[in-house]
Amino acid sequence: MRIKLNIGLFGFGVVGSGLYNVLNQSKLLDASISAIVVKDPTKKRDAPSSLIHFDKDIILKDSNTNVVVELINDSEAAYEIVKSALASGKHVVTANKKLIAEHFEELITLSRANNVSLLYEAAVGGSIPIIRNLEEYYNNDTLSSVQGIVNGTTNYILTQSNQGVSYEVALKKAQELGFAEAEPTLDVDGFDSKYKLVLLIKHAFGVLSQPDEVYNYGIRHLKPQDVNYALEKGYRIKLFSRAEKLEDGIAGFVAPHFVGPEHSAYRVNDEFNAVIVEALFSDKQLFIGKGAGSYPTASAVLSDISALQFDYRYEYRKSDAEQSGKLISDYYLKVYVGSENEENVKNFPFTEVDEAFKSKGYNYQTGYVKFSDLQRINLNKSADLSLIVLPEPLFSEKSEQGVLLKNKLNFAEIN
Ligand code: HSE
Repeated sequence: MRIKLNIGLFGFGVVGSGLYNVLNQSKLLDASISAIVVKDPTKKRDAPSSLIHFDKDIILKDSNTNVVVELINDSEAAYEIVKSALASGKHVVTANKKLIAEHFEELITLSRANNVSLLYEAAVGGSIPIIRNLEEYYNNDTLSSVQGIVNGTTNYILTQSNQGVSYEVALKKAQELGFAEAEPTLDVDGFDSKYKLVLLIKHAFGVLSQPDEVYNYGIRHLKPQDVNYALEKGYRIKLFSRAEKLEDGIAGFVAPHFVGPEHSAYRVNDEFNAVIVEALFSDKQLFIGKGAGSYPTASAVLSDISALQFDYRYEYRKSDAEQSGKLISDYYLKVYVGSENEENVKNFPFTEVDEAFKSKGYNYQTGYVKFSDLQRINLNKSADLSLIVLPEPLFSEKSEQGVLLKNKLNFAEIN
């Protein structure tokens, strides 16, 4: 049975105004916006003034409103709004990844206790329907990895730097186009990608992780020399959110990666996002779509609203089935580390060095690093060091490659 949806909308920025237009064009939906609550009374908005309000209780205390769509910038204010909406028995649709990642358990519990839905497809990958696919389509498959580009701003900046545009100019353009967060360090230091990864890990593997447990390193300190290295080797640099099932649990982190022309993400440019899902039976699948911007994000919000008509809710079956594991740190990855200062490269905790390059202006080494050693370095704060993950599989200490590496190290120590 279809439910008639009376929507209270919080926020009328890039996504909120996009949703307003998209909803007005959706003939199949039995849904209408009954009020829009915004913060700034001085801003001109392209919506009838009778709909615009400044008091959140106009929506939260209205018994006819059965859906709250939360699209504001401030995640603390969003937390209060969403909690209050769920507690008063209203369904909630949000695009706020930080809010969900930081209060996951509490909000799921609250929505279940009040028998309402909490949907957030737009929070990851913009227009890409990845959350619902992980929930429904991959419910019976054994997923081995979910990874890809889930931040439009950084992909836009990286695409532009490949074409010779400076970081500052590219970031400014991304802000003008409405891709960047109000606080752009969330994008460029990989926090936004990390919040999204927390959501992906929960829906892919049933593992609840805290944002603080997931390592994030962004693109702010990448140097033209790193871009040149990529060009020489035929790679492109992409900021990846990466989650993989290894022997003992789930590896999950955010970092720039080199990808070659054979990689599905190689040609994914500008604000486009790409999520690559690998599973035992379905093998590799690729989802591509616009990951930021007004209408692409609004389309995912619209899809959640539409799902509410049929009383859709996430069931988190993977978490409930307790087949879930935990996040781990005892694994290796192959990385490139570059710096103008030779000592920085030398002091990096490589387990094994593969290639080393030294010159007056720039130095780099490639080799293996144990993730738990990398975790101790706050690379977002190390302006004179860049790290980019090389296109090789992660391997745990317990894997064949891990045992080989350990034996090699022991042998070198003895000799
Ligand atoms: N700042 C985000 C991005 C917006 O650039 O991807 C969409 O979540």
